[in-house]
Amino acid sequence: MPAPASEPALGRRRFLTTAGVGLAAATLAPAAVARAAVPADPFTLGVASGDADDTSVVLWTRLAPAPMDRTTSFGMGSTEEVTVDLRVATSVDRLADERTCVATVSCTAVKGDGFSVHALVEGLRPRTRYVYQFSVEGHLSPVGETRTLPAPGTSTPVRFAVINCQNLAGGAEELHFNGMSDLVQSHDVDFVVFLGDYIYEFGRAAHVPPTAVDDIAGYRTRYGQYKSRESLREVHRRFPVYAVPDDHEFFNDVRGGTLPARPPRWNAALRAYWENLPLRGRPEPDAAGRLWLELHRRVRWGDSLDLFLTDIRQHLGTTTMLGEEQETALLDFLTTSTARFTAIGTQTPMTSFAGFGSPWREHAATRARITQALLARKQQDPRAFNPLVLAGDIHCAMVSHVQLDVDDVSSTPVATEFVNAPMTSGSANNWDAVRLAGQGGPGFRAAYGFTQGSSWTQYNGLSIHTVTPGSWTTTYRLGNQINRPDGAITLSPSWSLRYGAEVGSVTPRA
Ligand SMILES: [Fe+2]
Repeated sequence: MPAPASEPALGRRRFLTTAGVGLAAATLAPAAVARAAVPADPFTLGVASGDADDTSVVLWTRLAPAPMDRTTSFGMGSTEEVTVDLRVATSVDRLADERTCVATVSCTAVKGDGFSVHALVEGLRPRTRYVYQFSVEGHLSPVGETRTLPAPGTSTPVRFAVINCQNLAGGAEELHFNGMSDLVQSHDVDFVVFLGDYIYEFGRAAHVPPTAVDDIAGYRTRYGQYKSRESLREVHRRFPVYAVPDDHEFFNDVRGGTLPARPPRWNAALRAYWENLPLRGRPEPDAAGRLWLELHRRVRWGDSLDLFLTDIRQHLGTTTMLGEEQETALLDFLTTSTARFTAIGTQTPMTSFAGFGSPWREHAATRARITQALLARKQQDPRAFNPLVLAGDIHCAMVSHVQLDVDDVSSTPVATEFVNAPMTSGSANNWDAVRLAGQGGPGFRAAYGFTQGSSWTQYNGLSIHTVTPGSWTTTYRLGNQINRPDGAITLSPSWSLRYGAEVGSVTPRA
């Protein structure tokens, strides 16, 4: 990733709104800015936490009294900046009194950042649950819940969910995030990974606006519509997240490695993505005026799980897929990770399915370097190295094995791959035919997709992954009633992998 063209000095306001606030600064007086009236509830988009490590977490909100009205700056009118207070505590009771909070932070939300707040709260205790609440001029946000990761070296089980492809507009009809409702009603997870297609940018009758979005106000409007869904807001309110984009946060099949200088649509999309998610850092321009935000990262859950999240879209081009720095980091991760389970979370499957293109297939040399590293490590540490890949994109839940050679489906399997179900999105891919024809190779274990025809025959949902010292279990939570807000989750196929087992030994659980 290129360095920003210039690194402007961080003023106080910028520090407070984006670089975050450590506990050392937690008792700062409110910033000396003119208070502007916020006439209606500014917390319509909810709250969120994310990018947690063992001692810090990003706490997020975005002020938008009218989240889909670009003509009024989303209800903020002519306001330029506003003070947002934040409290963090270990229980809701303690939140009520400043003296029993672990942090009280004064932030400034500014118009140029879409009135988003990204407060990095540091100095927290490992493996601890916290609650937090924002306030603006007497308006109180929902109380968010979050938790930090365990300290390095500790052995603690972890459960997390993976979500991707949450298209809200199925033509004129709205689609519903039944999997998210199920998650918040029936499950407790330590964190959620959003693997991509958090929004869809294209035009559909049920989208707001019904046309494709291509400028900052348009993307902000679209995020406002998606976050108007209570199920999505509740996922964010309840669980810390790690989010990486795929293409539709920008536009279909975007290739960030081939963009022209100062690409206005890309810059608007990346800025809006950052504004609407709890991410560390902030987008910065390179010398040509193109925005970048480092998004590939590593999630270390004690010594139980080491998870590398890739960012394909910012780098994908004709000569590179991940960019040099990210590929080096990923290879280093595969070479050095000592966790009991080592996982790559990537936007598109690494398994090579006949007839289906993907960046991993197009960039066969990159893929080969990764699969060779996986094979070498498994040969070196056959018991201690347990590799998995988690992917999305192709709108079908399936269990497969990443083959060593992209063109040889019978070559050595080097990782178990769980391809996640789409939350709502459908495609007319005939996965049953692929499975029955054996085109996925011997590693292709199961598919929960649909045959061509009505999209309502597809199974949608998410996956939940439970990692203990002795095993990895993935359970899909699937239903086919996304045209109903109360649609049921009816299938829970579950698959397990024992610690120390050979790649290829994943088995279905009863
Ligand atoms: Fe998708």
